Amino acid sequence: MKRVLVLNGPNLSRLGSREPEVYGTLGLEDLRNELEKAGSGFDIDLRQTDSEAELISWIHEAIDSQTPVILNPAAFTHYSYALRDAAALIQQAGQILVEVHISNPYSREQFRHRSVISAVATGVIAGFGFESYLLALELIRRRIG
Ligand code: DQA
Repeated sequence: MKRVLVLNGPNLSRLGSREPEVYGTLGLEDLRNELEKAGSGFDIDLRQTDSEAELISWIHEAIDSQTPVILNPAAFTHYSYALRDAAALIQQAGQILVEVHISNPYSREQFRHRSVISAVATGVIAGFGFESYLLALELIRRRIG
């Protein structure tokens, strides 16, 4: 079965209790279940880290294994040039990386209005709760499933 990497950045391990009015009350295990339930035909490899280095190493792994990526860079979205450079390598390899956000960053604080990742992502889906990830998975299925 083909694999898809669903990578989540800092503080997303706290989903469920973190700002529930913004991110909802479900956790990462619920997200994993929803993605598996979607029956995309992909093996869902969902991971979370608070470490920029680890996230970058997972992007490198995606390139080497030609695995499509759904990435919620969390706060790294707004300032991590290192993560952006890693995402650019995916673009250069002609592979898919969909940037996702649970909330709509453009309806929030000013510092969230800028993504340093978006310009090198294949596309961006934001503001649909966990459905952002489900939509990203559907797009990947349509393109390479
Ligand atoms: C987020 C939005 C970011 O601004 C924030 O830092 C997050 C989560 C989202 O999924 O809505 O941690 O990426």
